Amino acid sequence: MKKIEAIIRPSKLKAVQKGLKDAGIPCITAVPVKGTGLQKTFSERYRGTEQSMILQTRTLIICIVSDSNLDVCVNTILDHASEGNVGDGKIFIYHVEDAIRISTRVKGGEAII
Ligand SMILES: Nc1ncnc2c1ncn2[C@@H]1O[C@H](COP(=O)(O)OP(=O)(O)OP(=O)(O)O)[C@@H](O)[C@H]1O
Ligand SMILES: [Mg+2]
Repeated sequence: MKKIEAIIRPSKLKAVQKGLKDAGIPCITAVPVKGTGLQKTFSERYRGTEQSMILQTRTLIICIVSDSNLDVCVNTILDHASEGNVGDGKIFIYHVEDAIRISTRVKGGEAII
C-alpha cells in the first residue's frame, strides 16, 4: 500500500477528484492548507510582508492506494492538477504499513477499497 499526498491549487480539486473517481480511486481525503514552495521573487514586498513569507492557499489531497494503483493515481493527479506553471504543487509518496476499516475490522488491501 502507498500513501500519496498531493498539494494542489484549490481550483483543481474537483477535476482531480473526478479524475481519480473515474480511474477507480473513489476514496480521498482533502484538507485546506497554507504553504509555500520555492519563490522566485525574494526581494518583492506586498503590504510590508516579504513575498517569500506569504503562505499560499492550497489543498492537500491524501489517497491510500494499492501498489498496483500507485501509477494511475499519480498520473491522474498530474493530468488534472497542472496548469504548467510554477506553484502547481507537489506530490509525495510514502509506504503504508497497514489500514483497518473500523466498522468491520477488516485489514490490509480490503480496507482501502
Ligand atoms: N518541500 C516541501 N515540503 C512541504 N511542502 C511543500 C514542499 N514544497 C512545496 N510544498 C507545498 O506545496 C505548495 C506548492 O508548492 P510549489 O508548487 O510552489 O513548489 P515549488 O517548489 O515552489 O515549485 P514551483 O516551481 O512549481 O513553484 C506549497 O505552497 C507548499 O504548501
Ligand atoms: Mg513555487
